[in-house]
Amino acid sequence: MLDLLITHATLPDGRQNMSIAVQGGRIAEVTEGLQAPAHETVDAGGLLVSPPFVDAHFHMDSTLSYGQPRVNESGTLLEGIALWGELKPTLTHDAIVQRALQYCDMAVARGLLAVRSHVDTSHPSLLPVEALLDVKLRVAPYLDLQLVAFPQDGVLRAPGGLDNLKRALELGVDVVGGIPHFERTMAQGAESVKILCELAAERGKRVDMHCDESDDPHSRHVETLAYETQRLGLHGRVTGSHLTSMHSMDNYYVSKLIPLMAEADLGVVANPLINITLQGRHDTYPKRRGMTRVPELMAAGLTVAFGHDCVLDPWYSGGSADMLEAAHMGLHVGQMTSQAGMRQCFDAVTVNPARLLGLEGYGIAPGCHADFVLLHASNPVEAIRLRAARLGVWRRGRRVASSPAPVAQLQLPGRPESVNFTSN
Ligand code: FE2
Repeated sequence: MLDLLITHATLPDGRQNMSIAVQGGRIAEVTEGLQAPAHETVDAGGLLVSPPFVDAHFHMDSTLSYGQPRVNESGTLLEGIALWGELKPTLTHDAIVQRALQYCDMAVARGLLAVRSHVDTSHPSLLPVEALLDVKLRVAPYLDLQLVAFPQDGVLRAPGGLDNLKRALELGVDVVGGIPHFERTMAQGAESVKILCELAAERGKRVDMHCDESDDPHSRHVETLAYETQRLGLHGRVTGSHLTSMHSMDNYYVSKLIPLMAEADLGVVANPLINITLQGRHDTYPKRRGMTRVPELMAAGLTVAFGHDCVLDPWYSGGSADMLEAAHMGLHVGQMTSQAGMRQCFDAVTVNPARLLGLEGYGIAPGCHADFVLLHASNPVEAIRLRAARLGVWRRGRRVASSPAPVAQLQLPGRPESVNFTSN
């Protein structure tokens, strides 16, 4: 007797009429048309069953704090950092934990079951670190929370920045972060990348740095990040987040840079919702879009993910833990409108971030964790178009969330009684 059997599922790779058999929290079999006795059987009715969404870039210590103590008037990254600085002295352990848990509830409802969150290590108290380590333990049964030690005020610029970051790692934070473009000079930024990559190499940690999050075409810390990655043999373990300066760089220089990034097997995270709003604020018209060169980086073989980055915090006034919203924005900003491009946008919120996080047992295949999402869409492209409802979400074979299909009732003579927005 199986624990769970999903039948008539369409998978992201296009296979149809697939059955997914679950036993002991793992996927036992994925076969066309399998019928077998199970404690719970779910007929997917031809709809898409996907591995869960993964967010490769988030800030869970600041989420759901929008308006405290005031809103970001200029809409810039730098005012957001200043505003976060005003908010920090008022933070408490319990308030951070409660907001983070509330966000994780939303995430699970959206089928988002793994999040890499940066956590600010700037203050010597490490209050946000201790709060999010607490949250990590509490949500572990239903969500994988990976933490990055993020020196928001600069690892060299802020007094004690490096020591605080090292202490955060000792407390159990998983990944080494950084913010080279916020250090005092370009040289100090490059020095910070070197120090932090060496620290990660020494301690066997992954790296994920906020890197070149500006409109400055000469901000080139990603070049240093790629260099240090290959110098220290950290291939496939280092991610550059944001990389928005690449949007403004000279094309000739980029033609040299992208192969160097590919050589280092650098991961890339673009945050389309945030960077379409934060960047280009000093422009009149035309206004730059402020997203890194996603299709070109993908074409060069780099693993590129879309992150959500912020929800209701000093930097962003929107969001609801919906990675399909991030994919939808990334598709538009990157003009990724071909069939292949739209499917790559779905990969950018599922398999690609799973690789960057190093998630074990991710996917819909025998032996993987029985974690998946039933979407109200027949394929990945339709899922993005509709920001499809998550009809069911399973974690280790146990249902953890359900939502109804969106159906509108019509009162139109001679027309159907309802519309559900799918193309079928
Ligand atoms: Fe960020």
